[in-house]
Amino acid sequence: MADIKVIFGSSTGSTESAAHKIAAALNADCVNVAKATADDFKASTLILGTSTWGFGELQDDWQTGIARLQAANLSNTTVALFGFGDQESFCDTYLDAMGILYEAVASKVAKIVGKTSVEGYNHNASRAVVDGSFCGLALDDVNEADKTEARIDAWVKQILNEMA
Ligand SMILES: Cc1cc2nc3c(=O)[nH]c(=O)nc-3n(C[C@H](O)[C@H](O)[C@H](O)COP(=O)(O)O)c2cc1C
Repeated sequence: MADIKVIFGSSTGSTESAAHKIAAALNADCVNVAKATADDFKASTLILGTSTWGFGELQDDWQTGIARLQAANLSNTTVALFGFGDQESFCDTYLDAMGILYEAVASKVAKIVGKTSVEGYNHNASRAVVDGSFCGLALDDVNEADKTEARIDAWVKQILNEMA
């Protein structure tokens, strides 16, 4: 299997827990962005996870981590994104941080996999919606924690298909 790295930023553990599940399913390394080195961004497939904080901001550890992402040569890299947010209390900034990561890499990578449908979500607006779909896996442990595991399982299958 390709050299896959999961890099996540998480303040209260939701994104961290999902990152470990995704990494285990893909037999990938899992790295907290707070500790990520420039070398960590050299994998052939990067799976990047962030929660959204403030009003539509990156999780704190990505505030510095994004510089490493932007500095990396991603021209041969496949990227997949996942994010956590709260679609009810933050319905106008739901998952914006995933959109920020998308905007940072979209024009620089070989391929983005793992876009998902907005059907069944309650948000009003999201920077993570690109051409009518989420740019990655949309998770919400505040309102729909019961759906997280199945969403991750389906998404891992999806990205494996799209990477094949
Ligand atoms: C102060 C505060 C601000 C937040 N801002 C947003 C936001 O703008 N958009 C969003 O989708 N979720 C927002 N959230 C929800 C978090 O993203 C959510 O709790 C997430 O599960 C945290 O994941 P983590 O534990 O991996 O950091 C906010 C939560 C708090 C407490």
